[in-house]
Amino acid sequence: MEESATLPKRSTSRRTFVLGGLAAGAGALSAGRLLAKASPARAAGGLTPGDAAILRFFAAAETLETDAWQQYNELGGVQDSEVPGGSGNPPYTAALSLLDSDMPQYIHDNTDDEFTHFTFLNAYLTAHGVQPPNLDQFRTLPSSKASGAQQIGRLTNLMQLSVDTSWWTRYRSDSQNPDFGDTLPQAVPGLLKGEFPGIPRDNNDTAGSTAKKPSTHLQAIANTGAFHFAMIEQGGTSLYPSLAQRVTHTEALRILLSIGPTEAMHFQTWQDKAGNAVSPPLAPLTDPTNGLTFPDLTSAGELLQPNLIMPEPTIFLDRKFPVCSIVRPTNTTGAAAGAIKFLTDTGLFRGQSGGFFDFMAQLAKAADAA
Ligand SMILES: [Fe+2]
Ligand SMILES: [Fe+2]
Repeated sequence: MEESATLPKRSTSRRTFVLGGLAAGAGALSAGRLLAKASPARAAGGLTPGDAAILRFFAAAETLETDAWQQYNELGGVQDSEVPGGSGNPPYTAALSLLDSDMPQYIHDNTDDEFTHFTFLNAYLTAHGVQPPNLDQFRTLPSSKASGAQQIGRLTNLMQLSVDTSWWTRYRSDSQNPDFGDTLPQAVPGLLKGEFPGIPRDNNDTAGSTAKKPSTHLQAIANTGAFHFAMIEQGGTSLYPSLAQRVTHTEALRILLSIGPTEAMHFQTWQDKAGNAVSPPLAPLTDPTNGLTFPDLTSAGELLQPNLIMPEPTIFLDRKFPVCSIVRPTNTTGAAAGAIKFLTDTGLFRGQSGGFFDFMAQLAKAADAA
């Protein structure tokens, strides 16, 4: 591990970082040039090409994550100037709030966190003379037409999701681990077998709902969102430790080790809330418009029991070792490309252009090659 140049000491509040990024970059660049002379392994700016590739991949992944969370927040989060954009959808917010009355606050805070993740990574890259990934040309997907959403181009599609809920059993199994090639069963199998909205697509999806009593259809949409929140955040929980194994500099490692666990904190919160979608009084619930069913899992056995939200110890590295309570998977080989494939398979990018997939594949390939 090598020490890398640190950012110049200055105000680094996230509000000033965006504006100050260029100025901060100039100072760090000169420091980086000095370091580059001493260490030929470093590119100009003090980052190795591998570390730069990994940080660029995360900057893009966080930009995508932010785009998804922003859509959730516009309709279901607390509306304030800290995360501006939408104006809220009271019936959808009510359905989310039946999962937990603090859902709007948690959605707001998760969204706020994601903004800071990509903004920090972009500023850090800029400060080290590396161009951050720019996804603006791919903001082409439509917004929800439901009241409360901004009408702008999006990077992600939350209206045709095939949510993978195997994270649920993955963290409850005491004998399986995706790193050993195991495929864990789905908690809500129906969610993977179609294309379901995690947000209301238009005001038809909220028809018949009030801010006091959401329709069964709208509750199913909120439940879909709740399982999708956890799916996204468990992905980040694995991705950071998986790629942290490939960085060179201690500061790049520090970044990944400091952001990654916040994804786990998000995941843990969402896992608890998703549990309320598969427990009474909300479960069982079947969407009358499409047959999507959220079963009551309270008596479905240890692999499915809703309140088992602490990571069950499982096999790790080699079966000869005792089981261990761990994040899973954390295998580093092909982790970045694997994450993009996983998200693509779950419909998050449905409607995106070939150019978008090429762009993300290139970033992932470079990160995996680091
Ligand atoms: Fe994030
Ligand atoms: Fe996240």
